[in-house]
Amino acid sequence: MTQDELKALVGQAALDYVVPGSIVGVGTGSTVNCFIDALATIKDRIAGAVSSSERSTERLRAHGIAVLDSNTVERIPVYVDGADEIDHHGNMIKGGGAALTREKIVADIADRFVCIADESKLVPTLGKFPLPVEVIPMAASQVARRLKALGGEPVLRAGVVTDNGGHILDVRGLSITDPAAMERDINQWPGVVSVGIFARNRAAVCLLGTSQGVKTLS
Ligand code: 5RP
Repeated sequence: MTQDELKALVGQAALDYVVPGSIVGVGTGSTVNCFIDALATIKDRIAGAVSSSERSTERLRAHGIAVLDSNTVERIPVYVDGADEIDHHGNMIKGGGAALTREKIVADIADRFVCIADESKLVPTLGKFPLPVEVIPMAASQVARRLKALGGEPVLRAGVVTDNGGHILDVRGLSITDPAAMERDINQWPGVVSVGIFARNRAAVCLLGTSQGVKTLS
């Protein structure tokens, strides 16, 4: 199976986790695009969506799915999103598509994070994929210095401005052996909007697309 077919497979499989009549949390990325297309087939059975990016909002609306302002929604049962890396405990690196901050916000109002990914994303230890850190532009150099002191090699993602007006530093060379601690530490630095480690909001379930079909990790 191609990577695109694996993405379509897990996008479809995630429908089993959608609670009928509820508002669905929707992430960002090419795998989530498959989920959005699948969600459109049951749009009359959901109360709408809360979206983590302008791109996903546009796709949801194009399918006729109502997108609600996250400020009007207190809790949602399920948030479905992809990942750049996921470990066996459900900790993830996210933000390859620069949507990490809004993804974290929607994940935070969800009871359950359902991660959809192809099997290439499953790793023993996070850190091979460059870690995205969203920063307020005036803090980029100082945050980069702090990341270097941690042993990382940060590079400003050229030409990217997030939906929140932030910039992204992509950090290579980190071995993230304690994701929760690193998430907590980096989040406290002045000017960091959010770090792409999802340990506090880790996945409760991962639907992994493999050539043998969908493997469920929980
Ligand atoms: C966007 C993300 C995506 O979930 C992540 O980059 C995976 O994307 P894809 O499904 O296209 O591989 O975190 O900010």
